[in-house]
Amino acid sequence: MLNQLILCSLIVSAAAYVVPAETAKDSAASPKGQKRMLSELERRLPFLKGVDQEGRQEFFAIIHNETLSKAEIWEAVELWASKQDKPTKEAVAEFHKNLENHVKNSRLRVEKIVQNLPEALQKLSEIIEAVDISRTEEKSKIESLYASLDADTTKTLQFLVDLVSFRKNEGRSGGAERKALKMESKTESSTKIL
Ligand SMILES: *[C@@H]1O[C@H](CO)[C@@H](O)[C@H](O)[C@H]1NC(C)=O
Repeated sequence: MLNQLILCSLIVSAAAYVVPAETAKDSAASPKGQKRMLSELERRLPFLKGVDQEGRQEFFAIIHNETLSKAEIWEAVELWASKQDKPTKEAVAEFHKNLENHVKNSRLRVEKIVQNLPEALQKLSEIIEAVDISRTEEKSKIESLYASLDADTTKTLQFLVDLVSFRKNEGRSGGAERKALKMESKTESSTKIL
């Protein structure tokens, strides 16, 4: 169990070394882009601050190597770190510690959302499907429901409702749009407050 958690942390952490494609493209384009990429990398990988040009090149050769597996990247980075000076080693260790915390916390958050969501969805459906209440009552009930949930669950619920909303789906197509919008305001009052 512990081993599994550590392995998972390490593998997820390796994702931290992925350079955003846009940033990489930028760097090829101009010296200005190159500078921007370096400062972006320093922001994301703060342990590079005290590393000289050669050390950086070695590091980038590892993280840009497309044939290495994620675990191999991780091992190579660990080996690279062991050859750096003490402050850099400590900075790498701190970076990895932060990543591990992030992995643990994000996993807990996702678990909590998944656990809370079914009941929250059920309650929301009941409110939306209740035809004997006014739209003002509906609005206030939905607001109370959101207030009763933790922030992550509320955001996820709102995301789902928005994702499948009439406005963003069937109601979206060109010519029928105006008609659909009109209908939506009549039938989908619940989406208004989302
Ligand atoms: C990627 O890593 C492999 C294994 O260490 C090595 O053989 C290969 O030359 C590297 N590729 C590049 C482009 O550096």
